Amino acid sequence: MSNIKYFNILRFPALASTNQTLKSLHQTDPMEEYTVVVCDSQTAGKGQAGNHWESEAGKNLTFSILLKPAYVQIQDQFLISKAVSLGILDALKTYSSGFTIKWPNDIYYQDKKVGGILIENALYQNRIGTSVVGIGLNVNQTVFVSDAPNPVSLKAIRGKALDPGKLLNQILPNIVKYLDTLRTAGPDSVNRLYLAQLYRKNGLYCYRDENGEFKARITGINDYGHMLLKTDEGQRRSYAFKEVEFVMR
Ligand code: BTN
Repeated sequence: MSNIKYFNILRFPALASTNQTLKSLHQTDPMEEYTVVVCDSQTAGKGQAGNHWESEAGKNLTFSILLKPAYVQIQDQFLISKAVSLGILDALKTYSSGFTIKWPNDIYYQDKKVGGILIENALYQNRIGTSVVGIGLNVNQTVFVSDAPNPVSLKAIRGKALDPGKLLNQILPNIVKYLDTLRTAGPDSVNRLYLAQLYRKNGLYCYRDENGEFKARITGINDYGHMLLKTDEGQRRSYAFKEVEFVMR
C-alpha cells in the first residue's frame, strides 16, 4: 500500500474534534473504511481519560481515521493501538531516531511527549465494528499552555518546520501496513514489533502504583492493553491504564 489516493481524506479548517466529526459523519451516512477527517484547528480536542488535547491552531497534525477491524475481537482491542502506534513511529523515524511508544497511548521523543492516540471503538456482536482512531502530533508548535505532558514538537526536535500534510501522507500508509500485518500474520508479529519500540523497554525503572514506588522491568503489553512488569524482586505484576505510572527521574 503506497498510494495515498486509497484514502478518502476530508479536510476542514476548524472542528471541535476530528473524532467527534468522523463519528457523526459515519452515523449520518456510513463511511468507507480509511475515511480520514483532518483539520487545521480543533476547539475541543479530546485526549485520553477525558483530558483536553492542546494543539495550537494551524501548527500541528490532528486527524482521525475510520477503521473496520472485524478481524479483532473485543478482548484484543488494544492490538489496534499497537498497529497504529507502529505506523506512526515508522513515519516519525524518517525524521530522527529517538522516538518510542509510551504505554498506553503516547508517542515519545526521548523523555517528552510528541503525540497521543485516542481510539473510540463501537462494538458489533463479539467484534470491533468500527474504530475511530484519533491522532494528535505536535508538529510546529513550540510554546505549550500546559507543561503537564512534558510536550515537544517535531520542529523543536529537528530545528526546522515540517508540513503537517506531508506527515499525514507518510503516516496513513504505514498504519495500514501494520493493520495488514495484524490481519494476515496475526497478533504475535505485531506484539513483537511493538514491544521492541516501547519507551523504557530495556532496563530497570521506577514506577508508582497505589502502594507506592517500586523498580521493575517491562516484560510485555498484553492484548487487553495491560502492562506486564517484573519487579526487581522477581514479582510479576499486570496493570491497566491509570493503575500505574512511570516515575520520571
Ligand atoms: C492523548 O494523548 O491523550 C490522546 C490525544 C489524542 C488527540 C487527537 S487530536 C485528533 C483526534 N481528535 C480528538 O479530539 N482527539 C484526537
